[in-house]
Amino acid sequence: MDEKAVNQDDVSSAKLALELDVNLKPFNTFGLPATARRLVRIREAADVRRVVDHPEFGRAPKFVLGGGSNLVLTKDIEAVVLKMEIPGMRLVEERDDAWIIEAGAGVPWHDLVAWTLNQGYPGLENLALIPGTVGAAPVQNIGAYGLEVQDRIESVEVVDLVTGRAVRLPASVCKFGYRDSVFKHSDFGGLAGKSVITYVRFALPKPWRPVLGYLELERKMSETGITAPTARQIFDWVCAIRRAKLPDPAVIGNAGSFFKNPLVTAEQCRDIIGRDPSVVHYQMPDGQIKLAAGWMIDACGWKGKAVGGAAVYERQALVLVNRGEARGAEVVTLARAIQESVYGRFGIRLEPEPVLL
Ligand code: EPU
Repeated sequence: MDEKAVNQDDVSSAKLALELDVNLKPFNTFGLPATARRLVRIREAADVRRVVDHPEFGRAPKFVLGGGSNLVLTKDIEAVVLKMEIPGMRLVEERDDAWIIEAGAGVPWHDLVAWTLNQGYPGLENLALIPGTVGAAPVQNIGAYGLEVQDRIESVEVVDLVTGRAVRLPASVCKFGYRDSVFKHSDFGGLAGKSVITYVRFALPKPWRPVLGYLELERKMSETGITAPTARQIFDWVCAIRRAKLPDPAVIGNAGSFFKNPLVTAEQCRDIIGRDPSVVHYQMPDGQIKLAAGWMIDACGWKGKAVGGAAVYERQALVLVNRGEARGAEVVTLARAIQESVYGRFGIRLEPEPVLL
């Protein structure tokens, strides 16, 4: 479609895949009840343009919904919900040093990991089985088993929610940090609420090298006697490790890790170790120390505890689950009680990882 044709369609609400009073329970992995007054399915980048140019929705606040896997819904959403469903995965370019892959924001993340591996473009295997969509991956810089998605992102294409213009941002300007990026903040030049991610390009390095070193992968290596695993073996190991201790959102509602692992100074850490010598912690390259929030919550005795339908998962205390008919308010009450108790014992204020709405 050329630029002119897009513009002619822009103001036609008939062209928008608009739905009213949509039940969001199936669209958030926690399975929390809430309603979107207006929801537009975004199936191509031009759909964002159509929303922006729309006489009624153009200026209304927007809320971008990916796979809903990092979201705690405590109320109905009055903003126009843009449900990202842009499909597509392709090899853009094969360079000497990398395969460049592009995927649409609506592609389920794990589908991309499996597809790249099947096509012979390894490099994402450590991130297998992470719930959510491709478009959400850069927002919180998803990470697991020694790899963060920032290590594989080449650029992110966004559409401005005021001008409707598309821009490709190189990874270097995305301000990636631990579960953090420019897309997560609205202040200090952040892009949250100002633009929407439509496509992500990945650079998967050639030659492929395994990312090992994470304790549980080391354990798999010694159990199997495999010292030089293939990408497929790492993929299978990661899937097995995750399935053993993380609840499948299709079976039991959850949003993955509920809190970030806090970073503290060496001095703070010495103080905490003084109180509890067994606290699990990791030295970071910049001198800070990352504490295992799951360990601290577990040490405070939270595993299996519940507030209404919201509970702390029995096998991994960092994960809160929906045991049935949980409401967002119950999840928030449980989370606050956990924060209080961890603060009381360790003097550390845990920060939620998902967006609380
Ligand atoms: N631990 C306990 N009890 C618990 C939970 C954990 O003692 O109930 C201990 C574990 O034994 C381990 C340490 O705490 O020694 C860390 O636990 P684990 O290796 O399971 O990892 P995590 O820190 O809980 C982080 C990520 C996960 C990611 C894994 C693997 C965050 C907030 N979470 O979890 O990411 O899959 O490492 O790399 O960084 C997510 O972000 O949603 C997520 C699942």
